[in-house]
Amino acid sequence: MDNFIKPPVEVRYADELAALAASDKGRRPENWKLSPRAVRTFILGGKVDTPSGKAEISKKFYGNDSLVERAIITLAGSRGLMLVGEPGTAKTMLSELLSAACCGVSTNTVQGTAGTTEDMIKYSWNYALLLSKGPCREALVPSPLLIGMEQGIFARFEEITRTPAEIQDSLISVMSDQILNIPELGDDGLVLARQGFNIIGTANTRDKGVNEMSGALKRRFNFETVEPVRDVKQEKEIIIREAEDMAKAGHIDMPVDTDVAELLAVTYHELREGRTADGTVVERPSAIMSTAEAVSVYFQALSHAWYYDDSRFDLGILTEILVGAVCKENREDLAKLRAYFRTASKDKTKEGGLWKTYLSSSKLLK
Ligand SMILES: Nc1ncnc2c1ncn2[C@@H]1O[C@H](COP(=O)(O)OP(=O)(O)O)[C@@H](O)[C@H]1O
Ligand SMILES: [Mg+2]
Repeated sequence: MDNFIKPPVEVRYADELAALAASDKGRRPENWKLSPRAVRTFILGGKVDTPSGKAEISKKFYGNDSLVERAIITLAGSRGLMLVGEPGTAKTMLSELLSAACCGVSTNTVQGTAGTTEDMIKYSWNYALLLSKGPCREALVPSPLLIGMEQGIFARFEEITRTPAEIQDSLISVMSDQILNIPELGDDGLVLARQGFNIIGTANTRDKGVNEMSGALKRRFNFETVEPVRDVKQEKEIIIREAEDMAKAGHIDMPVDTDVAELLAVTYHELREGRTADGTVVERPSAIMSTAEAVSVYFQALSHAWYYDDSRFDLGILTEILVGAVCKENREDLAKLRAYFRTASKDKTKEGGLWKTYLSSSKLLK
């Protein structure tokens, strides 16, 4: 797997999934690979007893544990699951983890865009075969939705609200009747959804919005709002874990500096919340201060050190990358970032060491 940038969840965590399957004694919905209890452990972490000894399952999603439980229960029923929230709150990650754990496949996905058409959601044709053989099963190109129905697995619909509402609505009949009709195939054209089929949608609140989704479609989903991580310690852990994974995948042989990860977690947290730890109010940038962005800022600084600076990590470079990340949408955010660094330089330098270097190395204060 060394050759791939990001193997799917079921491949990356194959050992954990096997250990969970070997120890799983919980009740299991028809056609699921694991019980809801084991799926929960896969996502939230824990220890399991397998016939060959204890196995450690890593924690993958931080934050709202009961949201994860509710999401799993929703998927065991006949309504779809819709994860909504700001970009970078791990909606995609969560839907991949759920699909891999429940169905063993996380790649049965439609990516919603402004150009998504109804045949991308339902089915299309291989025109060469269609011309030579006429409409037949062989000439049919099934969509992830159709594959999900036939195999009894989940179909993931990413960024569903970026798709025009009338196209989204082609899901309604499938979700209410659990049937997809392919009129061209005549009597053979009726596809019934097998047990285990369901849909996980994700939607960003910053995009066109869930408001434009039709009421009829909304009623077929249970909505869960995924909030940004609000705990600095958890955010720090995510930055460390993700940066370590990315470094490993990129063959960058440098340890992740946990103090720097904390610095970045604090910066992101305080800018997102609009106040510093001691209560000073700071203006929030209009850019989204997501954990995913923090991870990417750290990893860029790490790569810079690896390729240009013989593995010497430079905090000045980190702040330059931070400026790029925060100010990409709105130049006024630069003033806000500068103001934050000024505030921080007053109340954080007493914490000494790293903060002092971080703030003094920052061109933001010059
Ligand atoms: N609550 C969280 N728990 C674990 N990782 C998180 C969390 N929030 C954000 N992340 C990190 O952010 C990354 C990006 O998340 P992603 O699933 O692409 O977000 P979204 O689909 O909501 O835009 C994840 O891979 C993970 O590293
Ligand atoms: Mg996403």
